[in-house]
This record gives sequence, C-alpha cells and structure tokens, in this order.
Amino acid sequence: MDVNLLCSTLRKDTLLKEIIYFPKIESTNTYAQILKFKDDTLVVTNHQTKGKGRFGRSWISQEGQNLAFTLVKKIKIHVDEIQLLNLYTAYSLATTLKKMFPDIAEKFSVKWPNDILLRDKKVAGILIEVQNLKDTEKTFLIGIGLNVNQTGFDPGISSRATSLRNELNYEIQREKILIEFMNFFYENVQLINSKRDLIKNWESQSAFINKKVRFKQMEDSEIAEGIAKGLDDDCGLMIELDCGTVKTFYSGEISFVY
Ligand code: BTN
Repeated sequence: MDVNLLCSTLRKDTLLKEIIYFPKIESTNTYAQILKFKDDTLVVTNHQTKGKGRFGRSWISQEGQNLAFTLVKKIKIHVDEIQLLNLYTAYSLATTLKKMFPDIAEKFSVKWPNDILLRDKKVAGILIEVQNLKDTEKTFLIGIGLNVNQTGFDPGISSRATSLRNELNYEIQREKILIEFMNFFYENVQLINSKRDLIKNWESQSAFINKKVRFKQMEDSEIAEGIAKGLDDDCGLMIELDCGTVKTFYSGEISFVY
C-alpha cells in the first residue's frame, strides 16, 4: 500500500488529523477502540487478521488485496438517530464507487442498512461502533471493508461475495478509492442532519425497494416476506407483508426472494 500517497493527499484534501498505518493488525476497529484515538483519525492496514463483522461475525480479507480501515469521527447525534450514520456511510461509499467506475455504476447498490452490493453480491461491509453512547457528541468507529483485488473467496461465501476486480478484470489502486471516499465523506457529512434527503438518496441506491424480500429479524429470528416499501423516519425498513399490512423492522437482514 502506498502510504505516502495516502498521507500526503488525505492531509491536504480532508480534515483528517492523523493517519495510522499498520502493515498487519488484528482489526482496525479493535485497535481504534483500545487506543481511544482523537477525532478525525484514520486507521488503515494492508492485512487484517481478525476482522470483525456485524452480529459478531468475522470479516475475512486476503493480505494486500483489499481495503480495511476505520475512521474515528466525533458527531453530535441523538442516540435514536445513529442509524443515519450507517445510511450515510453506505451512501458515501456507493456513490464513490459509482463515480470511480462509471462502466459498472448501475451494478452497485446498497442493501439495508449498510452493505454495498455489486451485481447483487456483497462487495463491502460496514461496522460502526460507538464509544460513548450517553454523551451528546459521540465517538464513532466507522469500520469499512471493501473487496478490491481479491479474486477467490472461501467456498462458504463465494456465492454471496465479490470484489471490484472480479467485475472489472483489472487490478485497481486501493489508495485512490480510499482517498475519493474520504473526500466525499467529509464534503457531504452535513447530510446526516437532513434526514429526509439522506433517506431519499439512500433509497435511490437501493436495489430492494419495491422488490420481494425476505427479512430475518435478529432478536427473535422472525422471518417475514413481502415487498420492501422504503425507510421510515427512524430508518426502519417498511415491508408490506403478503397479508397486506405494512410492518417496520429495525434490526436484521434482508435478502431477495427470486
Ligand atoms: C459486515 O458486513 O459485517 C461488516 C464488516 C466490516 C469490516 C471492516 S474491515 C475494517 C474494520 N475493522 C474490522 O474489524 N471490521 C471493519
């Protein structure tokens, strides 16, 4: 990874105060959590050995192929609105990728709440952790894993995971994507305060709206099927069930029903 390019460009173009690079580390999120970094710090690695995913899952990434990083960002946001940061991060990453790779732009989509899909397979995951939930200004650890140049995936996930290179068939410079993403993120971060605009923008990138979906709620594993109608003001996913009632879900996972 070209750390010089990363540091010189990001320090010039964004409000990032510190960039910490590790050739190898267990997890950029875990590291940021333990060390309690200052606001606007970016932790990035070339090889993450114990990456964390949502719902206690692991995030596996081949050495030197992908992007794995955590942005430490302080934001004044009410506890009930935190989901907006998930939507904003996914929206920022999807928009960055669409801009950078116009030939395949229409193949990118967001999956509620914050996965990025490429041709309906997962290309990026986002794990946002918060350190001080009770404070008005909270410190967020925004962890992002993006499959860039990895071409093979474990058999268990190969039908659901992909990378940019799998679609583009050429090697991609990882640093450029990180730089573009950071620029977009910082330039548009006020969108978090315009809830309806953010939700509208996020919905416009979702491949699920008005499609038949299956929803698995995490707390009780309840499974529901119906048509995804969009997000309510609390960023919950509204699904019109087969019986006609609209139910809103706040935590869980959706998948297409073909
Ligand atoms: C998910 O889809 O479940 C979220 C995956 C998040 C992975 C990233 S990689 C960088 C950061 N460090 C981690 O340990 N996890 C996040």
